[in-house]
Amino acid sequence: MPSASGAPLVVVTGAAGRIGRSAAPLLPAGWRLRLTDLRAGQLPGSGLAVEALDVTDEAACAAAFEGADAVIHLAGVPDPAATWEQLLPANVIGTHAVAAAAVAAGVGRLVVCSSLQAVSAPVAEHQVRSEDPPRPANLYGATKGWAELVGSWVAATSGTSVVALRIGYFNEQRPPWPGTTPRELAAWLSVRDAAELLRASVESDLREVDGGPVGHGAGFVVVNGTSAGRYRKADVSTTQRVLGYRPLDDAWAGEPLP
Ligand SMILES: NC(=O)c1ccc[n+]([C@@H]2O[C@H](COP(=O)([O-])OP(=O)(O)OC[C@H]3O[C@@H](n4cnc5c(N)ncnc54)[C@H](O)[C@@H]3O)[C@@H](O)[C@H]2O)c1
Repeated sequence: MPSASGAPLVVVTGAAGRIGRSAAPLLPAGWRLRLTDLRAGQLPGSGLAVEALDVTDEAACAAAFEGADAVIHLAGVPDPAATWEQLLPANVIGTHAVAAAAVAAGVGRLVVCSSLQAVSAPVAEHQVRSEDPPRPANLYGATKGWAELVGSWVAATSGTSVVALRIGYFNEQRPPWPGTTPRELAAWLSVRDAAELLRASVESDLREVDGGPVGHGAGFVVVNGTSAGRYRKADVSTTQRVLGYRPLDDAWAGEPLP
């Protein structure tokens, strides 16, 4: 990711959440980070500073994104059982505000968080591919389809390129077995692989994007985001090829197989 100053400025929304607070300390040391969330504070553990930013406030987003090379949009309600009233502010209005503000601020790369919940109602049981069209089994997944479409719109109409990440089951520790569903094990995204996924999403030049059937086009890609499990709910070959993603963690490593 080229930057005039040499050290790219990357703004993160929702940085005090589970993924943000654990992945932020592992992001490239060469980045300048501006971490934001609803409330200002410090991240537990790392002590990294967080600035206040409500993603439903488009003007505040545009000010926070000034001079940024990339925006990683993590803010949202990540609950598959959430109601429309719970999802509307951050997931629907906020995602639009972040995207519009990123364009207004001339941000080069926007990374939005989708979810495997966007493809949770498959036609048949099969390994989910990055190229699968959205087919959510819940309203939360539909808002993640919205995030993908907003990303596609922005990339098609502005100089901001967009990576939409269909994140699987993020968990700080390797999921225990028994105690975790097979689906969760197969969709696990570890902390260090989450950081690697964010690094790759920001730094990839998207040269390998090659016009697939859905979600692929100039400056826009939808990719699955899970770790390197030996049995995978989602195929990450497109993520590896297009982004240069190098996942390391296997939910089954060292455990008796379920
Ligand atoms: N955790 C998972 O397994 C998972 C799976 C798939 C996708 N995702 C997506 O990844 C992203 C991050 O997930 P997470 O697990 O860290 O969620 P989280 O709930 O732990 O963190 C989300 C953060 O967003 C912030 N936020 C909510 N509304 C906001 C607003 N209006 N303005 C600014 N900040 C706001 C919250 O304060 C919180 O710190 C979400 O978009 C989620 O949908 C997560």
